[in-house]
Amino acid sequence: MSDSMQRTLVLLKPDAVQRRLIGELIARFEAKGLNIVAMKMLQVTPELAKQHYAEHVEKPFYPSLESFITSAPIVALAIDGLDVIQVVRDMLGATSGLKAAAGTIRGDFSSSRQMNLVHASDGPDAAQRELALYFDESEFCDYQPVLVPFLR
Ligand code: PPS
Repeated sequence: MSDSMQRTLVLLKPDAVQRRLIGELIARFEAKGLNIVAMKMLQVTPELAKQHYAEHVEKPFYPSLESFITSAPIVALAIDGLDVIQVVRDMLGATSGLKAAAGTIRGDFSSSRQMNLVHASDGPDAAQRELALYFDESEFCDYQPVLVPFLR
């Protein structure tokens, strides 16, 4: 099957902001050749947390997850690229930083299942639903990336 152009939602969670890792994490997505097409810093409210994590609201860990995700600002990103949903999930690594492979974001920077620095949509339906929670259609900035010429 050929690669397809997709858009995904990435959140740099409160621990990423508080640890001053915003630039380092965004640099990874840019280095990979993905296009950031929208970005904002915001404080997640309990209402937004319940919408975002709707499938987890009834789980025992949800109160702790809501408390964490609302504890400090986050940075929301919309990122475009070929097969970007899976590409970004692979870059993040396993949910738990303890289990995530070295070389992945969580593997390199986290040892926690909750404070795992980054969220990314896990499929096309989730991406569509989650992007709409954080961005209006008018906020997506499509552009042609410049390919840096090889200079000698
Ligand atoms: S599960 O249990 O398999 O459905 O959960 P998972 O898909 O691995 O994780 C979904 C998000 O919930 C967070 N999570 C937790 N937070 C706190 N405590 C515990 N025990 C816990 N388990 C999972 C996890 O960080 C995931 O957040 P996102 O933002 O989706 O990465």
